[in-house]
Amino acid sequence: MTQDRAPVAAPSATSRRTLLAATAGGLAAAGLAAPAAADTAGRPRKPVREPFGTLADGTRVDRWTLSNGGTRLGVLSYGGIVQSLEVPDRHGRYANVSLGFGGLGDYVALSPYFGALIGRYGNRIAAGRFALDGRTYQLPLNDGDHSLHGGDKGFDKRVWDVEPFTSAAGVGLTLRYVSGDGEMGYPGALTTRVDYTLTAEGDWRIDYAATTSAPTVVNLTSHVYFNLAGEGSGDVYGHELRIAASRYTPVDAGLIPTGELAPVARTPFDFRRAKTIGADLRDDHEQLLYGKGIDHNLVLDKGITRAPERVATVREPSSGRTMSIATTEPGLQFYSGNFLDGSFTGTSGRVYRQGDGFCLETQHFPDSPNQPSFPSTVLRPGDTYRSTTVHSFGTD
Ligand code: BGC
Repeated sequence: MTQDRAPVAAPSATSRRTLLAATAGGLAAAGLAAPAAADTAGRPRKPVREPFGTLADGTRVDRWTLSNGGTRLGVLSYGGIVQSLEVPDRHGRYANVSLGFGGLGDYVALSPYFGALIGRYGNRIAAGRFALDGRTYQLPLNDGDHSLHGGDKGFDKRVWDVEPFTSAAGVGLTLRYVSGDGEMGYPGALTTRVDYTLTAEGDWRIDYAATTSAPTVVNLTSHVYFNLAGEGSGDVYGHELRIAASRYTPVDAGLIPTGELAPVARTPFDFRRAKTIGADLRDDHEQLLYGKGIDHNLVLDKGITRAPERVATVREPSSGRTMSIATTEPGLQFYSGNFLDGSFTGTSGRVYRQGDGFCLETQHFPDSPNQPSFPSTVLRPGDTYRSTTVHSFGTD
């Protein structure tokens, strides 16, 4: 229905460039030196590499920092993890808006996928099993009876080859990982490339590509937990969220889709008009009990697209920070940080509690390999998997 397909408007009244000019001017007027003049003024800064730690097997892990257009990104070679993502508020003050840890040990020992690249299959596959071309494949069960985010040692726990680049599109990193045939139970050797680009506007763009040596399934995503007021600053329930999705995929108690594409109308899953994340979280809708809040895939009205289209916007009223997401993918997992339970101490030393961050994971739908009516996640030799997601930051 046409009224269900309301486009998601650009979030920002103040353009990023105007804000940056104002910020640099304001600092100069106040007689304060900008912390790093080049990147405060929004100009690209060449990616810089520093050691972040060493894994038990002796492998060195690097942290890369890059900045452009006023956005600063810190990326680990381990898991392609976004360890920090700093953007200014409406007064030009920076905060790290992604949840994470200060040291490698915590990422290895306990991370609930903070900031990580997810593969080979983002989200759940029922009973960790699927059939393809008449053969059945068994994956590790690392989420109760099911397989989650690629199994117990998914792409989030692999060390990626990282190469910096500067191009007309901006500054960035190319991350490469080859997943061997049969790794985590998946067929085919999967050659994976992910480009993180920071554009002149301060957008963070992710381009995923993969090829395979044998028929397989692929669903790559990024698992940043956002808090636009700054990580460790409390819950995200006051963030205003809008998602251009008229349907969602209801799940069973194990968070596996039932196969139905249900209307969001008159449910807590209706974000077609902006509302706060907390608005309906305590509703008695049965689906909210399964995931202790929202942990659901929204069916994006635009479907699969060749170019990324804007599907979601978020605004945090106290800082004025905004983020919009554009993607080529047909689905968006909105996870309201329900399973954070105070057992993690984050980057700045504060404990993360339930709802202290949210994820918006662009993806094909969960359990697609077992759901013939969902868009296919099958990749065959000779074809290239491609997916793009762009995060744009601004202020209100
Ligand atoms: C899933 C959640 C899970 C979280 C961290 C999300 O993508 O949907 O159910 O708890 O990842 O593992």
